Amino acid sequence: MRKKLIAGNWKMNLNIEQSEKLTSLILEKLNEDIFNKTDVVLCPPFTSLFNVHTLIKNSKIKLGAQNIHYKDEGAYTGEISASMIKSVGCEFVILGHSERRQYFYETDETVNLKIKKALEFSLIPIVCVGETITERESGIHETVVENQVVNSLKDISPDQLKNIIFAYEPVWAIGTGHTATPIQANSMHRKIRTVIENLYSNDIANTIKILYGGSVNEKNSADLFSQPDIDGGLVGGASLKPDSFTEIILSA
Ligand code: 13P
Repeated sequence: MRKKLIAGNWKMNLNIEQSEKLTSLILEKLNEDIFNKTDVVLCPPFTSLFNVHTLIKNSKIKLGAQNIHYKDEGAYTGEISASMIKSVGCEFVILGHSERRQYFYETDETVNLKIKKALEFSLIPIVCVGETITERESGIHETVVENQVVNSLKDISPDQLKNIIFAYEPVWAIGTGHTATPIQANSMHRKIRTVIENLYSNDIANTIKILYGGSVNEKNSADLFSQPDIDGGLVGGASLKPDSFTEIILSA
């Protein structure tokens, strides 16, 4: 059985003080028992990682970053390395988010390099894939997502793949309030599992976690997470609201 995972992607929101406040409220609301069923990961902006880690380090909540560079170190002004986020307490890193692909020109190739760098530092990559509305309307959504999965896994061994999480985030569902229906989402998760089965094996395809992201809230989360191939969520807007986020966790 795959354990459910709920990750909060805070995106470019909250300064240090606001991040501490949100973290404390989430900690207050979550009972220890919940972590037997569900893993919880907070992904604040880089500037809040240290302070959020200080607050959660004695709890079961885990820390993730929203990006890394694929090089170890050097003259890359403004970038953050795998070693840096590891040293601040991160265990996870979101890679290839559609906002990074759209605004910062990330490609499947750079996502692949970043996955390899994250794994080298024993960070668990949460690799985002998903189609735009135009791609869905022209019926090529499955091919688009298949290509993203295949390209991002170039030269990744079966052993490495076991430490990777995918997140299916249809671009048209992000921040729009238009969630994919549970059936639509599950069908794409099934597709991703089939792609992985063809590349690797049935065993690995059944072990790997695939999260859904895109307008997840406390009202739609239970239906989404009850689907057989949906192993939790990557939550944006609702992860900034302590009540909504904890209700989403409880619904998993
Ligand atoms: P929203 O939940 O705000 O739609 O964002 C989803 C997302 O992009 C998570 O990574």
